[in-house]
Amino acid sequence: MAERIIPQHISIIMDGNGRWAKARGQQRACGHIEGVERVRDITTACVELGVRYLSLYTFSEENWNRPAEEVNALMGLMMKSIEGEYDTMMRNGVRFRVLGNRARLSDILLEAITNLENATSGNANMDMIIMLSYSGKWDILQAARKLMESGKPAEQLDYSDIDAALVTAGIPDPELVIRTSGEKRISNYMLWQTAYSEFVFTDTLWPDFRKEQLLEAIDEYSSRDRRFGKVK
Ligand code: IPE
Ligand code: IPE
Ligand code: MG
Repeated sequence: MAERIIPQHISIIMDGNGRWAKARGQQRACGHIEGVERVRDITTACVELGVRYLSLYTFSEENWNRPAEEVNALMGLMMKSIEGEYDTMMRNGVRFRVLGNRARLSDILLEAITNLENATSGNANMDMIIMLSYSGKWDILQAARKLMESGKPAEQLDYSDIDAALVTAGIPDPELVIRTSGEKRISNYMLWQTAYSEFVFTDTLWPDFRKEQLLEAIDEYSSRDRRFGKVK
């Protein structure tokens, strides 16, 4: 087997909570609650493995179109997790960050997010990046607005200017993107940043995704031949 290569940045499209609950005759919210447990497991596993950035697609711009009851349940879970995870993050040296369209978040959630971001800002083992109210097209749009407002002459714009204007500024692009639940699409996730990412799709539903499945995905990534358009 190929030597295991630990990516610097792993990103996960956490999908399948609803189907996991349905298969058990439970409400969709039960799947989301179990999903939070896996976030904890996978975060710990990534710290242990030496991953530097873990980004998690938690709630997309399109997810606002779900029934209000489900949106409220998801935002409530976010709030509860923030309140409960401080000690573990400090112990594991995890820096908590939330990226996405903050304009759509409630004041109380925003305040809790900002407090945890500030409290963990000195932690340097791993950045845990929650992509919340995020979409790739929105990110590119807000970057375009910033660049236009900067007044930089169009002919001087370079790729690095766009990198720096995206909400992920300063974070290296993910080498590995994992999507659970068998769907094989990007669902408006990081469009610019995944230009050369390796994708691993697994049928495992997110509430069943544990360290074992993470290692399988990393091993699959390790076996890939990354050519970046060149001849090897
Ligand atoms: C992922 O699980 C969580 C979010 C998108 C918020 P889903 O809720 O999409 O679960 P499925 O895809 O319906 O099974
Ligand atoms: C993508 O999952 C978004 C997140 C995982 C947060 P969805 O379940 O919303 O995606 P679609 O609807 O199947 O494309
Ligand atoms: Mg889904």
